[in-house]
Amino acid sequence: MQNLRLGPDLSLPLSEVIGQCVAILGIRGSGKSNTAGVIFEELLAARYPLSIVDIDGEYFGLKEKYEVLVVGAGENVDIELDVDAAGGVAELSLREGVPVILDVSDMLAEEREQFVLEYLTRIWSLAGKLRKPYMIGIEECHEFIPQGVRTDLKEVVSRIALRGRKRGLGAVIVSQRSAKVEKDVLTQAGMLFLHRVVHEVDMRVYGELLPWPKSEVKEQVTSLGVGECIFLSGQDIRKVRIRPRETFHGGFTPSFKPVETPKLRQVRGEILAAIQKFREGKETAPTSELALKSRLEKLEAELALKEARIRELERRLKDRGNGHHGSPPGVQANAAAPLETGDEDELPPEVLRKVARLLRRLHRLPLHERRLLAFLVSREPRAYTTAELAAWIDCAEATLLTEPPTELIDMGLISCERLARGITYRSQLKAYVSHAFSGFLPDLGPEGQHLLIAHLRRRLSQLSTAERNFSHIP
Ligand SMILES: Nc1ncnc2c1ncn2[C@@H]1O[C@H](COP(=O)(O)OP(=O)(O)O)[C@@H](O)[C@H]1O
Ligand SMILES: [Mg+2]
Repeated sequence: MQNLRLGPDLSLPLSEVIGQCVAILGIRGSGKSNTAGVIFEELLAARYPLSIVDIDGEYFGLKEKYEVLVVGAGENVDIELDVDAAGGVAELSLREGVPVILDVSDMLAEEREQFVLEYLTRIWSLAGKLRKPYMIGIEECHEFIPQGVRTDLKEVVSRIALRGRKRGLGAVIVSQRSAKVEKDVLTQAGMLFLHRVVHEVDMRVYGELLPWPKSEVKEQVTSLGVGECIFLSGQDIRKVRIRPRETFHGGFTPSFKPVETPKLRQVRGEILAAIQKFREGKETAPTSELALKSRLEKLEAELALKEARIRELERRLKDRGNGHHGSPPGVQANAAAPLETGDEDELPPEVLRKVARLLRRLHRLPLHERRLLAFLVSREPRAYTTAELAAWIDCAEATLLTEPPTELIDMGLISCERLARGITYRSQLKAYVSHAFSGFLPDLGPEGQHLLIAHLRRRLSQLSTAERNFSHIP
């Protein structure tokens, strides 16, 4: 029987993973994606078919060693696809055992939801007939199976995770926000990889998953280094170290400077041809009402954006005309805004792409966190107490206290200090730029950096009002 070699002291018989729900939790940077990547590598090496829902475009590097088809909408797709073709690809993947990465990184929120829903629904129903071993991987699974919310997508993901076993279906679910993942799925997961967490809410979740006294949970979890985790499967509970991924990790490069992309394996021509057929079929006859609706929404969003862009350009043109002739004070006051919004023209496309990625990510945060960031960024460097913030951003102070903006802090976008007047938060946009965009700064120069900060400040301060729909446009 083949074994999955996950680390120097962790080898699992392949049979143990069939139909299993595997949960990987931990803070950002603790090694979750690496652990998931290693599991996928080992499954691929064992010719175990799978599909990975890749929300950040970080798994295409698996193609360095394995034949994996990357579809959806993102920078590294083999074939761009939308919801109409999702079911067909799902069927091909399961029937023929073709590993697939669904790159949804460049999809709008609703489109992503429809695409994944369509795909997984087909996998579920077909697996009932075929009953073959098959694994689904889902990053940022709190997005798909959020605690306390009901959606069709959540229903199908939970079904696969909890009741897929009989059909051979298993799931690898990954999240940095343990407390936001549906508890029923976590408590029933057969295999856990618990990486480091620090926040009390997450520690509490770990407390429920591990059969140890609270103090020991805290002690053990706090001592975990990057790539280390507490592995739990049945009676087997121990601290283990996971090996590093052998293949390229797409999310790993800190800057988006052109890195040397490794040579990637190409997918067999006949598979590509089969998929091309779904696309063509779709082109002439869109299949479902749902697909049409999703396409319409996408087009409407694009149209609204283009209209906004035209209005903005017209205003800028007008302002330039007025500029030298001493326009009336009222017009002058308005004129500052459109000029300020033109800064993206001056920034290199790879920087704007990174900004777009950041915005996409931030749009996934709860509204109160987006409002908090928008507010603090527009008032950097002032620090505000939770009571002040609650009043400014129109949110209960209790929410700020029980659901602190941990992700924003982890990302380094804001900082938290305990002062005499209470817990305070402050924007760290400048520090964030020098850290997160460090690869670009030498080329941007001080002027470019200034532009970038101004651009980000403007985009981030719109986070509380901007539609999710528009989040994909740089
Ligand atoms: N098992 C490991 N061994 C060595 N390095 C690791 C390991 N896991 C993660 N890392 C390093 O830590 C970084 C963050 O890991 P990643 O898996 O992206 O974290 P997460 O998904 O939890 O945010 C990676 O760039 C990688 O270099
Ligand atoms: Mg990750």
